[in-house]
Amino acid sequence: MIPINCIFNHNMKRLLSYIYPVTKTIASKYSGPLEITWYNGIKHLNSKNANYSYGSLQRILKFGLEKIELSKVNSVLILGMGGGSVIETLRDHFNYTKHIDAVEIDPIIIEIAKNEFEISESETLKIHCTDAFEFVKTNKEKFDLIIVDLFIDLMVPDKFLSAEFWDNVMGSKSSKGVILFNASVVDSKSDAIKTLSDYIKTKIFRVVVHENVNNTNTIIIASGL
Ligand SMILES: C[S@@+](CC[C@H](N)C(=O)[O-])C[C@H]1O[C@@H](n2cnc3c(N)ncnc32)[C@H](O)[C@@H]1O
Repeated sequence: MIPINCIFNHNMKRLLSYIYPVTKTIASKYSGPLEITWYNGIKHLNSKNANYSYGSLQRILKFGLEKIELSKVNSVLILGMGGGSVIETLRDHFNYTKHIDAVEIDPIIIEIAKNEFEISESETLKIHCTDAFEFVKTNKEKFDLIIVDLFIDLMVPDKFLSAEFWDNVMGSKSSKGVILFNASVVDSKSDAIKTLSDYIKTKIFRVVVHENVNNTNTIIIASGL
């Protein structure tokens, strides 16, 4: 049972957050200082310069998921679990009840997901605490939907724009599966992202690029022809 003072604290923080943001900071070796911030009644996970989970990031991935026929999806792989806001969207907004595998390199973030956002392992959620680059290298399973959401602060690390990584991601996709890639928030990567989407197109994928989603991000949706 949840103690009454926890419920009181939770409600107080939510109410106070309409007046001013309430923030707690936790240090992470991968992402630097992480902030758990109540803002306008919603708890967010932020890095120094970026919203990692819940808030704008969640809206951006929801925009992508709306373009995908989720009724045909029987398995999901999330690369970059963060605080798990896309899991909440899949479960609560799209009523997706089937299995999800989530990969997250940062054990501190996995703890935050559990303690702050009630995202933890269950029969239908397997969390892999490992580097997504290594995960797809050795993975043998096929997934109907792969969500690629790998950031360190504002940047997608270069290795996640490489052909090697994308060959492995495409190899992890079922024949009719879909890849949803949250590609960038910074203009300096736009050439690399163009090169990458051209590369994915050569691998018989239908590739649709959505720019300025939420006025910031580029989203790429790639599906089998
Ligand atoms: C924008 S957040 C993900 C948000 C999440 N998809 C959600 O729905 O809330 C980006 C995440 O990528 C993770 N990440 C960065 N590099 C990684 C790597 N090499 N392997 C796995 N996860 C990584 C970060 O630790 C961070 O949690």
